[in-house]
Amino acid sequence: MDSIQVEKSPPLHGEVQISGSKNAALPIMAAALLCDEPVVLGNVPDLADIHGMERLLCSMGGVTHYDSAAKRLSIDPSRVRWIEAPYDLVRKMRASFFVLGPLVGRHRHARVSMPGGCAIGARPVNIHLKALESLGVRIEVEHGYVVADGSKLRGGPVNLDFPSVGATENALCAAVLAPGETVIENAAREPEVTDLADFLVAGGGKIEGQGTSTIHVQGVDRLSVKSYPIIPDRIEAGTYLAAAALAGGEVRVRGCRQKDLTAFLADLRQTGTELEVESQGSLDDIVVRRSGPIQPISEVVTLPFPGFPTDLQAQMMAVLCLAEGASIVRETIFENRFMHVSELNRMGADITINGNTAIVRGVKTLSGSPVMASDLRASAALVIAGLVARGTTDILRVYHLDRGYEHIETKLAGLGAKVKRVRTGA
Ligand code: EPZ
Repeated sequence: MDSIQVEKSPPLHGEVQISGSKNAALPIMAAALLCDEPVVLGNVPDLADIHGMERLLCSMGGVTHYDSAAKRLSIDPSRVRWIEAPYDLVRKMRASFFVLGPLVGRHRHARVSMPGGCAIGARPVNIHLKALESLGVRIEVEHGYVVADGSKLRGGPVNLDFPSVGATENALCAAVLAPGETVIENAAREPEVTDLADFLVAGGGKIEGQGTSTIHVQGVDRLSVKSYPIIPDRIEAGTYLAAAALAGGEVRVRGCRQKDLTAFLADLRQTGTELEVESQGSLDDIVVRRSGPIQPISEVVTLPFPGFPTDLQAQMMAVLCLAEGASIVRETIFENRFMHVSELNRMGADITINGNTAIVRGVKTLSGSPVMASDLRASAALVIAGLVARGTTDILRVYHLDRGYEHIETKLAGLGAKVKRVRTGA
């Protein structure tokens, strides 16, 4: 397994181009199953999870082709025959569970493995299943599989107990071809959910209210999306903004959208980091500068969008490790998303955990050490912490990073960071 080796680096300088959003591309790839003609997606990042979803679609009879130079993915769903997502594929990538709604919507039945938990939490799917049952789908769970009978699928009221991103996406995909009207209350408002809804509308779907807590869907007979560009990855953008805030310097983060990051940008400004947004048409460049001391933040609280994103919690914590004072970080979305804390403390940070709250007392410096990545975003936090740690930091289990960050070592090295991938075979 490869590792990433980070040396203490000078302040970062230069510009970094943001790739397409992993968490928008994955549900949209699954939603291609709703179409009966080939779909071409643009701005699709070259990531392990994207290719994992390709494998799943192909296991069902779909045909995909990824052009890594053009970042273009074509999916032909017309020959999908097997409406099953096997455990072996779902356990490796829980986003595979997002095929449930599209299969029920288009084929009126599905057999999808329960995803099981992961490092950051139990990740149940009860809200997904309750949403589908509200649409007349009969759900049985047997031998670890969800068996869904959508022969009586019809629109109706769906009320989510929590604004779950995945449950909103599965409900949308089941409703878009369901006869009648569906109203999804307490829907997730994340930009990736909105991008999925916009993809469905581009294919002829009748959806209104995406981006708000109430989404209205009027069922249609068929969907056909010729081509659709994926939005930029706000979490990747936030990760590079955090890297420059921590390491100092001046970096232009190109091709993102400030409207997807308002809560994160507000908190980052509180650390004394300068952020200048330059609109480039439908996208923004964000220039980040930090030369003075890092200020602590009284409290960072992760919340559903538009609140502070849980996927940037670990990266913000890395920044706060060197603040001139103590900060509080509260994780309200996942029950176990502080695995990066023990690793940061091994690097000399001073963080104490009390339930879902971490107290980050700023220290003068960190010291490099071998650390273990546990989940995608924790890994990124360890990489950026390594930029300011004396000596060398070796981040092991780097496959976590490859799931969600396109060429992270190349992009960081392009900013002057001393980062390289060490191939350890196996
Ligand atoms: C999506 O996961 C993202 N993944 C996650 O990003 C992200 O952290 C999360 O949304 C929250 O923003 C993808 O889009 C592929 P949820 P999802 O359903 O849909 C609980 C990354 O790093 N819950 O909004 O699984 C759940 O346990 C990944 O890119 C239930 O209890 O998130 C969690 O505590 C990590 N029952 C909370 O809700 C359910 O049926 C939020 O989960 C569903 C969820």
